Amino acid sequence: MRIDILTLFPEMFQGPFSESIIKRAQDKGVVEIHCHNIRDYSTNKHKKVDDYAFSGGAGMVMSIEPISILIEKLKAERDYDEIIYTTPDGQTLNQGIANRLSLKGNLMILCGHYKGVDQRVRDHYISMELSIGDYVLTGGELAAAVISDAIIRLIPGAISDETSALTDSFQDGLLAPPVYTRPAEFKGWKVPDILLSGDDKKVEAWKEQQAYERTKQRRPDLLK
Ligand code: ADE
Repeated sequence: MRIDILTLFPEMFQGPFSESIIKRAQDKGVVEIHCHNIRDYSTNKHKKVDDYAFSGGAGMVMSIEPISILIEKLKAERDYDEIIYTTPDGQTLNQGIANRLSLKGNLMILCGHYKGVDQRVRDHYISMELSIGDYVLTGGELAAAVISDAIIRLIPGAISDETSALTDSFQDGLLAPPVYTRPAEFKGWKVPDILLSGDDKKVEAWKEQQAYERTKQRRPDLLK
């Protein structure tokens, strides 16, 4: 997979993409991530990338021209399966969307800023608008990092124990059951006996039961 990120703040991605599973996935060639600074495509002598809204009111709007130049340059180089715009008024990201996107070849993610982008960018270039939740971030960069992370860890080869992504919360529509490790007793706090029983069938049944109970308690909406 290849992910192209279009942003005014490429350095915001250095942390999230240079550690742990996401770093390893890049080292293994499972994913290539390319960050592009929209400002580099401004034709303005002051490298301006925003302007006042025609409608007036507070806040700047990201201009169409530099974004258009960059998107068209990338589209001329390869076909994109989705061109995603990060915005609080988009569809809320969930595990199903992450699963579907993890099967794609080339993705582009445009990070919104200020009061957002000129609507014509959304109308003519964007195929999918994603929010990461009902709250407003300073910009779309953190959202793009979250979306990329959720997708990349699902690509075969990204996680060494490939079954582990399948047992995540949400993957089967349920929250994940509680987990324990050694020691079996700490300060008198015991691991449930069944997990020490060695009876794989009973352990599986216990995990399913726990996952169901946890979901019923915490996220009954998922069971509907
Ligand atoms: N930009 C600002 N807030 C956002 C959110 N919640 N999701 C996606 N992009 C955003």
